[in-house]
Amino acid sequence: MSEKVSVMISEEEVNKKIREMGERISQDYAGKEIHLISVLKGGVYFSCELSKRISVPVSIDFMAVSSYGDDTKSSGIVKIVKDLDQGIEGKDVLLVEDIIDSGRTLSYLIEILKKRNPKSLKICTLLDKPDRRTHQVDVAYTCFEIPDEFVVGYGLDYAQKYRNLPYIGVVEL
Ligand code: IMP
Ligand code: MG
Repeated sequence: MSEKVSVMISEEEVNKKIREMGERISQDYAGKEIHLISVLKGGVYFSCELSKRISVPVSIDFMAVSSYGDDTKSSGIVKIVKDLDQGIEGKDVLLVEDIIDSGRTLSYLIEILKKRNPKSLKICTLLDKPDRRTHQVDVAYTCFEIPDEFVVGYGLDYAQKYRNLPYIGVVEL
């Protein structure tokens, strides 16, 4: 069974914005090296494309987290499913995400990473749904702000499908 997907942001628009974002980040980090952290699985497509547009030296590492529902009272709302391979102490870390929705996942992830003493820690996201924010996060780089709709493509899935779409689409249910 497959659903109909309509285009919200075209492949051309996404690629253009990623190119611009890569240039901006390269300027901001001139003379430095970037340690890019990609959050699996959704962040991977954007991380790879973005890193290709960055002209300062880049190293890359991956992390996978799972988040529990709002009703979870335990101290750790976000569970690390796959931790980083390398330490981040003293590094200029750029955390790359596919989308920031409530901000819950990211705010906990930031707390965890800050304890590891990076030299700096900034966030870059492909998409932001600001209307749905419940946890305040300081996002340095946002490619697109979008309305509160469920989107797929460029790493984002609907039931694990559509991550490979080269554009951002909306599933018509
Ligand atoms: P947050 O903790 O609410 O910010 O959750 C962010 C995560 O929810 C993202 O990394 C995605 O995995 C997922 N998510 C949020 N909105 C969408 C969407 O529109 N499409 C696909 N996944 C989404
Ligand atoms: Mg994500």
